[in-house]
Amino acid sequence: MRVAAILTAAGSGRRLGHALPKALVPVAGVTLVVHAARGLAASGAVDEIVVTVPADHRPAFADALGTADLSGVTVTLVVGGATRQASVAAALAGLGPDVDVVLVHDAARALTPPSLVGQVVDAVRGGGRAVVPCLPVTDSLVDVADHEVRPVDRSTLRVVQTPQGFDRALLDRAHAAAGHRAGDERAAATDDASLCAALGEPLTVVPGAAAAFKITTALDLAVAEVLLGQEAS
Ligand code: C5P
Repeated sequence: MRVAAILTAAGSGRRLGHALPKALVPVAGVTLVVHAARGLAASGAVDEIVVTVPADHRPAFADALGTADLSGVTVTLVVGGATRQASVAAALAGLGPDVDVVLVHDAARALTPPSLVGQVVDAVRGGGRAVVPCLPVTDSLVDVADHEVRPVDRSTLRVVQTPQGFDRALLDRAHAAAGHRAGDERAAATDDASLCAALGEPLTVVPGAAAAFKITTALDLAVAEVLLGQEAS
């Protein structure tokens, strides 16, 4: 079984309020994309990593990843598309025919524990064709559609994380079926399991990890600095 991980890093990171693309922002002196790639490589469960990058920052990504110690795991860069979905589709299109398991992971989840990567790959090996790490919702929720405010029962809801793991043929089929949505941010999928679910495929849930939170805001970045600082001391 050859396992490829697509690491999405082609976003702008506008919500972070940084001049650099989010994946190039350093935390504890190392860019987010390198933290995320190291986590994938350290799992020992990934054979190759394909990173989606913004076209105008490709050289900076090549520099950062070229000098990172990734335990011998091969890294390839692919220029991303207009949306996350389009970026994943571009990376998928370039995978070799020998890849049969694909992980899709966000560089923004830079502190994801290697053990979670391993658990997702194990679940695919165990027969899960679309594997999603999830956490329970801890906040109370309301639905504000149509200008009405309705409380929502959170007990059956889950927060979805990455890496998500897939049978490669299924993920290819899911992206092909949803290709018409990929160019428009309002229509595009924000994750890949939802594209498989749209084909009627059952999803396999594994427990997520608090450390796999998505770094989106300046506060998230500050939390990541504290956590990595604790690791170093
Ligand atoms: O914008 P958001 O935080 O939801 O992006 C999730 C992930 O998808 C990030 O790691 C980002 O770099 C990546 N992305 C991408 N191509 C895009 C937009 C986002 O690879 N066009």
